[in-house]
Amino acid sequence: MNHDSKRATLDTACVHAGEQPLEARFGLNTPVVTSSAFDYLDDQVRYPRYHNTLNHEVVAAKIAALEGAESAMVTASGMGAISAIFMSLMKPGDHAVLLDGLYGGTTDLVEGLLTPSGFRFSIWDGDPDQLESLITPQTRLVMIESPTNPLMQVVDLERTAAIAGEHDIVSVIDNTFATPVAQRPIESGFDLVMHSATKYMGGHSDLLCGALAGTEELMTRIRPTIVRLGSSLNGQDLYLLERSLKTLALRVRQQSANALELAGRLEGHAAVAEALYPGLPSHRQHELARKQMQVFGGMLSFRLASGVDPLLFLDRLELVRPAISLGGVETTISQPSRSSHAKLTGAERERLRIDDALMRLSVGIEGTEDLWEDLDRALSDSTR
Ligand SMILES: Cc1ncc(COP(=O)(O)O)c(C=O)c1O
Repeated sequence: MNHDSKRATLDTACVHAGEQPLEARFGLNTPVVTSSAFDYLDDQVRYPRYHNTLNHEVVAAKIAALEGAESAMVTASGMGAISAIFMSLMKPGDHAVLLDGLYGGTTDLVEGLLTPSGFRFSIWDGDPDQLESLITPQTRLVMIESPTNPLMQVVDLERTAAIAGEHDIVSVIDNTFATPVAQRPIESGFDLVMHSATKYMGGHSDLLCGALAGTEELMTRIRPTIVRLGSSLNGQDLYLLERSLKTLALRVRQQSANALELAGRLEGHAAVAEALYPGLPSHRQHELARKQMQVFGGMLSFRLASGVDPLLFLDRLELVRPAISLGGVETTISQPSRSSHAKLTGAERERLRIDDALMRLSVGIEGTEDLWEDLDRALSDSTR
């Protein structure tokens, strides 16, 4: 399948995948099933926590199609998906390899709950040549993000999945930042893909939800854990998620186009020391990103030059809003040292190069020139 036909298929899947044939009187849209009580004499026992209402089935099928997976589920949050993955595929004494600098909530789950319960972890820097040396007979999975938050490191998807496959361990990717519009890791050999659907999939900063997609075999192992942990959404939120997914490809392409343009302009700005975006030719892994990404996504980071006051810069922005979440239609900015990475020790932040001058932008769908005018003015106003 060539690039254009792949794109057309994804665009069509955003709109139509998962639809179920309905009586004409319901119209084109999936009706919202509000019931939490169903007739138990029916041939299937339905209950929202069992993920088998109409709204659950439609959204899960759409997400499976978008990721090119055999099966998918929607969870109550991104952490609902991550916790279910670890608790289904590992038991105390088992080991997993985690990419350095995974989302803070994942690290918190590992440190606060899983390690005290006897689960074992090693941290990997993302270099494929080093991965094999971390795998032990107890290793059950390797988990990555790409691009990473907030330094936008890119991990080689094909090589990571191939090494995991050779050792019979499950490869898992948190695809929240990229979305299936930018990259489809299952096509690169990954076994499981998860999302904080709160971000791009929801896309309007008004939903909390998660998703995971993978082989039927793996999803069959994970499904009972999700049901036992009670990680499910109600019909209203599922419908909103379905509605959002119809415009996922449009939104992410516009966000990516805006991000590429802004990253290039930021990189050339006197008040910016560096811009970190996989779409920039100056990015260390630009060639790898070009190979495995269709577009480069809406997330970018940049480091203010030494003469710029970070708090003054944030204060001077008018259109771009400081906010910790991401992936909405509106452009938001965060200072990772005071938000997502505030809990790390100073030494840990220094090791990761996450200082007060580092800014992370979640680029929205607004007009590029309006966004640039705001950023450029705030940068000039905050230069000492
Ligand atoms: C990359 C990434 N993964 C997972 C999560 C967790 O998702 P949620 O907040 O929906 O539980 C987040 C949330 O910020 C995230 O940014």
